Amino acid sequence: MQNEDQNQIRSLDVPIFLTGFMGSGKSTIGQALADLLGRPFIDLDTRIEAMTNRSIPDIIASDGEEKFRQIESEALREVARMGTAVIALGGGAILRAENRELMSSRGISVWLDVPFEVCWQRIQQDENVRPLAPDEATALERYRQRLPFYQQSSLHIKVDQSEPASAVAEEIFGRLGEAE
Ligand code: S3P
Repeated sequence: MQNEDQNQIRSLDVPIFLTGFMGSGKSTIGQALADLLGRPFIDLDTRIEAMTNRSIPDIIASDGEEKFRQIESEALREVARMGTAVIALGGGAILRAENRELMSSRGISVWLDVPFEVCWQRIQQDENVRPLAPDEATALERYRQRLPFYQQSSLHIKVDQSEPASAVAEEIFGRLGEAE
C-alpha cells in the first residue's frame, strides 16, 4: 500500500457504517472493505442475534418491530465504541434519528445504492428470512420511505449489479476522503 493511502486511512480512523436496503450487499461488501482496510468487520444483525441468543425474525415476530429497533439501537451504540471497525447495519437502522446522529457524529456512513428490482430479486433468493419484506409491494413501500434517510449518508455509492464486492470496496476506499 502506498504511503499516501496509509495516511488517508489514518486520517479516517473512525468506524465505517454501511447502509442500504435489504439485499444491497452490505455484509459481502462490508467484509471486502474490512479486508481491504485491514479492519475488523461487524455485521450488526449477527451481533444482535449473538447478544440476544435469538433470531431476528423471532424477535420481530414475538416482540414487534419497535422492540427490535430498540435492541438494534443499543447494539449500534455498543459497536460504535469499538474503534475503527467496518459495520454493516440492517436495512432499517437508518429509520431512527438517534442512529443517524450517532453515525454522523462518530464515523462515516456509506449508502450502497442498489435499484429496488435487484434488492427484491436477492431478497427472494436469499436464505435469510426478512419479515419486513413479506411481498414486493410492502418491500417497495419501505424502500421508498427510506430513500430520504439513506440519502443523508456521508457517501453515496451507486452499485452496479455486475460489479464484484471487491470492486465496490475499492471504490469506497478511493472515495473515503470525500466523506464529511
Ligand atoms: C431489516 C433488515 C434486515 C434485518 C431485519 C429488518 C429492515 O437486515 O435487520 O430483518 O428493516 O430493513 P438486512 O438489511 O441485512 O437484510
